[in-house]
Amino acid sequence: MGGTPLITVPVELGPRSYDVTIGAGASRLLASVLPSGVRQAAVVTQAAVLTSVDAGVPSDVFVLPDGEKAKTLSSVEELCRGFARAGLARGDVVVAVGGGVVTDVAGFAAASYLRGVALVNVPTTLVGQVDAAIGGKTGVNLPEGKNLLGAYWQPGAVLCDTDALATLPEREWASGRGEMAKCAFLEPRPGAGAPRAALAEMTLEDQVAWCVALKAAVVSEDEREGGRRMLLNYGHTLAHALEALGLAGGPVDLRHGEAVGVGLVFAARLARRLGRIDDARVEEHVTLLDAFGLPQEIPGGVRSGEVLEYMARDKKARHDLTFVLDGPRGVEPVHGVGEGDVVATLSAMGALS
Ligand SMILES: NC(=O)c1ccc[n+]([C@@H]2O[C@H](COP(=O)([O-])OP(=O)(O)OC[C@H]3O[C@@H](n4cnc5c(N)ncnc54)[C@H](O)[C@@H]3O)[C@@H](O)[C@H]2O)c1
Ligand SMILES: [Zn+2]
Repeated sequence: MGGTPLITVPVELGPRSYDVTIGAGASRLLASVLPSGVRQAAVVTQAAVLTSVDAGVPSDVFVLPDGEKAKTLSSVEELCRGFARAGLARGDVVVAVGGGVVTDVAGFAAASYLRGVALVNVPTTLVGQVDAAIGGKTGVNLPEGKNLLGAYWQPGAVLCDTDALATLPEREWASGRGEMAKCAFLEPRPGAGAPRAALAEMTLEDQVAWCVALKAAVVSEDEREGGRRMLLNYGHTLAHALEALGLAGGPVDLRHGEAVGVGLVFAARLARRLGRIDDARVEEHVTLLDAFGLPQEIPGGVRSGEVLEYMARDKKARHDLTFVLDGPRGVEPVHGVGEGDVVATLSAMGALS
């Protein structure tokens, strides 16, 4: 393969354990990571994804429409009908080649078709490589909300081919950097004792591997989000509220990871206001987001009242305002945060009252 050696990060889940392989050309390993006995493959992808894969067995290619609107139950039905027409059998494999939309939809189809067939993820966005393709959450949206329908279905292997990112538009890179920034604030820190901004200085392969290792550790401890996996939602309460506002026609145009960036600064400032962290810790957040070139303000025209309303509806919020916040013991869920503190923090970041 030449060049830099590939990095392997195991995801330990007992009999469902698998490896994530990271580096230039990783997708060329596809044939070697398929389960033994596979006779054919269903490759699910999108037109914008220019990575082609060779499964080493006869393959049918299924192309999903672009964007979040492809994450529907009818996409899953279309795919599964296609699998059936192609004769995909119990011992065969679904290969998802694309961003989070493709791996979420193809993963759910793999979980459902014939009550479950093998899945291999080849994520081609930065969000996919550091987050969406790992950990087994699959699913689609309903008109009533995002990700309301799905299943836990672990892949048998994940190939993070950094060469595949060459064609990624800048906004998608930014989105991935937002998720990477989140990882920097969940322990352990990148590099023993190094400042968190060190993540921005690493090579792309090391950045991806570092985030994958973090997610792998959290998922192995808490596959079904009973506890620690919730920490992966750091920065996400505000991010989801902003995204929902955008979807409802509000003045928000942020990719998911960009919204997470704004959400991280908000979480840091809120934690500071609650006396959980000091100014230096807030500054660490700002410095890393600067290094990653991410927005840190509430978009112009957004009102704190409407943000609060969406936050209260967040599925992680239960009955009161809950945020994942940094503090003396590291990042943890904090219940019962006062509305006044939230509104004051939002206003300080540019929200209208
Ligand atoms: N399952 C999980 O744990 C998890 C985690 C995070 C996000 N997600 C989900 O992932 C989705 C977001 O994923 P995303 O940010 O990857 O978005 P995406 O899948 O929509 O991809 C973004 C865009 O980039 C295009 N694209 C993909 N690869 C490309 C390439 N190599 N070159 C050029 N264009 C390319 C896609 O066609 C799309 O237009 C959301 O639906 C989110 O809910 C799931
Ligand atoms: Zn996210």
